[in-house]
Amino acid sequence: MHKLLERQIKRHLGDTATVPSELAKFIAAVDDAYASADADRLMIERSLDLMSRELTEANAGLRSELAERQRTEQALLKEKDEQRNLIRKLEDIHSQLLQSEKMASIGQLAAGIAHEINNPIGYVYSNLGTLEKYVQDAFHMIELYEQAEAGITDQEVLSGIQAAKKKLDFAFLKSDLRALMGESNEGIVRVKAIVQNLKDFSHAGTTEEWHYANLHQGLDSTLLIVNNEIKYKAEVVREYGAIPNVECLLSQLNQVFMNLLVNAAHAIQERGIITVRTGCEGEEVWVEIADTGQGIPPENLQKIFDPFFTTKPVGKGTGLGLSVSYGIVQKHHGRMEVQSEVGKGSTFRVWLPVKQP
Ligand SMILES: Nc1ncnc2c1ncn2[C@@H]1O[C@H](COP(=O)(O)OP(=O)(O)OP(=O)(O)O)[C@@H](O)[C@H]1O
Ligand SMILES: [Mg+2]
Repeated sequence: MHKLLERQIKRHLGDTATVPSELAKFIAAVDDAYASADADRLMIERSLDLMSRELTEANAGLRSELAERQRTEQALLKEKDEQRNLIRKLEDIHSQLLQSEKMASIGQLAAGIAHEINNPIGYVYSNLGTLEKYVQDAFHMIELYEQAEAGITDQEVLSGIQAAKKKLDFAFLKSDLRALMGESNEGIVRVKAIVQNLKDFSHAGTTEEWHYANLHQGLDSTLLIVNNEIKYKAEVVREYGAIPNVECLLSQLNQVFMNLLVNAAHAIQERGIITVRTGCEGEEVWVEIADTGQGIPPENLQKIFDPFFTTKPVGKGTGLGLSVSYGIVQKHHGRMEVQSEVGKGSTFRVWLPVKQP
């Protein structure tokens, strides 16, 4: 008999043995009903159990699928990030290449022109020297004639000479001719220096090899080239120290100096001073270009070497000057330092090893 039924009979009717016999059939039917309810419950419980197990399994499957999907998504995101970085790097390199290509072709152009001008300048220079000597000789000859003038007795000849002298303003001609020769000489020497500087500056560009070069020469020729950009803005003060020749690609370093000098001039609003200093410490040489310009706000200091970072209006600056310079200095195993105070000015210092490692 079902345990529950047995307990209930005991409670309501006393001992099961004393149950009236006419109830036996009824009790047996109730007992059957209890048993079948139990069986049903068991079956329901089992199927619930089964269902719950299946649900748990499905749930776990879903969870792992989700995790897998998240992993793939993360990997995709990472890949996308890497691609974006790569594209940015490629863009940077591309623009730097463009810039250095531009500089190289400007250099080649300058070298070509310098070469072409060099020859005519050469013979004009040398002819001027000869001419000066001839003029001196001719003057000497005229002086001798002048001394002989006293001996001329023919009044007609004498007055003819004196009239011609007066007409030509011979005294002035004599002194002016000397001044003209001097000025022409000075001019031609200057043109020669410019051509030489152009040649130094470009140094035939692309095929340049590593040489021990005098940085002061590089600075001087670069200063001459950018003089036009600077002269209305600033006075240039040179404070050169005693430095050894440095193993470098001088035309590329000249590019660095040019970028720094032009930036310095741009930073000066009215008029200021650009100081170019050099010095050495241990195995390193430094070149410093300091300006009394507007300075760089601290929040920009981190960005100025980034390609395309510029505070200049559209069309004025490409924002490549410093990034290209940085690249060139790195190629020389050197480094660049900058100090700046808003309203006071900036100082850029380029450190270079005397000897390449
Ligand atoms: N001497 C300086 N004084 C003040 N700001 C400077 C100086 N040098 C550089 N900067 C700042 O750094 C920025 C980046 O300089 P960078 O030379 O790279 O580019 P740019 O001068 O703007 O353009 P460009 O490509 O024509 O050189 C400048 O726009 C300017 O804001
Ligand atoms: Mg610049």
